[in-house]
Amino acid sequence: MTTLEDHLPRFPKQDLFSRRVGKGHQGKVFVVSRKRNLVAKVYSSYYPNALELAQHEYHVADCLYRNGISVPRPEGVFEVSFPWRLRRHPAFVMEQICGGICMNKLCGLDNREEYNFARKLQEEEAEKAERLGFIAEDVVDRNCIYFPREKKVLLYDFLMWRAPDTPPDWKTPSLPLHLLWL
Ligand SMILES: Nc1ncnc2c1ncn2[C@@H]1O[C@H](COP(=O)(O)OP(=O)(O)OP(=O)(O)O)[C@@H](O)[C@H]1O
Ligand SMILES: [Mg+2]
Repeated sequence: MTTLEDHLPRFPKQDLFSRRVGKGHQGKVFVVSRKRNLVAKVYSSYYPNALELAQHEYHVADCLYRNGISVPRPEGVFEVSFPWRLRRHPAFVMEQICGGICMNKLCGLDNREEYNFARKLQEEEAEKAERLGFIAEDVVDRNCIYFPREKKVLLYDFLMWRAPDTPPDWKTPSLPLHLLWL
C-alpha cells in the first residue's frame, strides 16, 4: 500500500550530523542544513499524524510569512532522516532563528521595561494576524524570540493556530501519545 508519506520529497542534501537545537511538548527541532541555515521540526504526536501536523504548521507559517507577520521563513514539508533511526520522518523545514532571546528568559531577567516592550511587540504581531483572519493560539513567551537590537519579536510554533482557510473540523493536536526516541 502506498501512503502520502511515500510521495513526500526527501530534504535535499541533509547534513549528516543534524544537531538538535530545540525541544517542546510536540516536536523536536534539528539543524538540517548549516549552509542554508535551515532547521526541521519533527513531531512526537501521532494524532493527527506527523505528516498532517507538518503540513498544517507549514501552511499557517507560509500564510503568515506572505502576509508580513514576523515569523521564520518557511521552506516546506520534507522527509528527513537521522543516522541513528531507521524510520524517515515528515518534517516542517524553516529558517533557523539565530540570536535573540527567548521571551521566557527575558521575563526572568531584571529588565521589566524591555520585557514589557517585547510583550507589546508580541501582542501587535498576534493582533495583526487576527485582523487577517488567523486564530492565534499559544502565543506565549516560550514561543517568541525577542531581538533587542532590531527591536523585533519573531513568533514560532503554529500547531495550535488556524489559518483563515483551515477547515472548521481541523483537530487540535493532542499531547504526544508516543514519544519518539530522537
Ligand atoms: N526556526 C527555529 N530555529 C531555531 N530554533 C527553533 C526554531 N523553531 C523552534 N525552535 C526551538 O525548538 C523549540 C521547540 O519548538 P516548538 O516550540 O515549535 O515546539 P513545540 O513542541 O510545538 O512546543 P510547545 O512545547 O510550545 O508545544 C523552541 O522552543 C525553540 O527553542
Ligand atoms: Mg513551543
